[in-house]
Amino acid sequence: MFSAKDIHPRSMDLSSWFEFTIYDAIFLVVVLGFFFYWLTRTEKPMPAPPKELPPLPMSDMTVGDLRKYDGIKNEHILFGLNGTIYDVTRGKGFYGPGKAYGTLAGHDATRALGTMDQNAVKTEWDDHTGMSADEQETANEWETQFKFKYLTVGRLVKSEEEKADYKGRKSFVRGAESLDSIINGGEDDKKNN
Ligand code: HEM
Repeated sequence: MFSAKDIHPRSMDLSSWFEFTIYDAIFLVVVLGFFFYWLTRTEKPMPAPPKELPPLPMSDMTVGDLRKYDGIKNEHILFGLNGTIYDVTRGKGFYGPGKAYGTLAGHDATRALGTMDQNAVKTEWDDHTGMSADEQETANEWETQFKFKYLTVGRLVKSEEEKADYKGRKSFVRGAESLDSIINGGEDDKKNN
């Protein structure tokens, strides 16, 4: 007579299959742990995209008006550059409170950008005297980028009397369009052509 062991002796020795060492126990706990985590994990909701602020109506501003738009007193962040005010709110990673160039928010940034010194901002009117031709050129180069990237709000003016009427027009990315031509209803462009 054949016994089961005679057919395949090793395969029938089941006791070795169930030898349970401490390593097996650790392995099992880890696998079960992962499985439990996978079953019970909850999908984290995606962070909401940053909300876009509606564009400000175009307006000229004095230095005093501009100071309010520092991203704290007003959520919009504006700065002046070469006499034009830009809404740089979408660049708040650069200009927001405590960010690398946050000192420019609500200020005339011409001198700071021209001299590449973010602390070179004045609290009062800055007539840009003392800036070298190279520094002025650097400021102009920044403006070449910004007028295509950020909304133009208006002009930085010295007094209330200089403020123009934009007839409710919203600030917009003006690109190559000159601000004076907007104020004068295109008259400047016609003259220049
Ligand atoms: C160690 C010195 C500096 C480093 C490493 C640095 C680096 C950078 C980098 C990586 C960007 C982003 C470029 C991009 O994503 O398009 C940037 C942008 C900029 N930086 Fe600097 N920067 C430095 C100093 C300065 C200084 C002194 C100023 C002067 C105020 C300045 C003004 C700017 C401005 C205005 C922008 C453009 C932000 C915009 O597009 O609105 N940077 N810088």
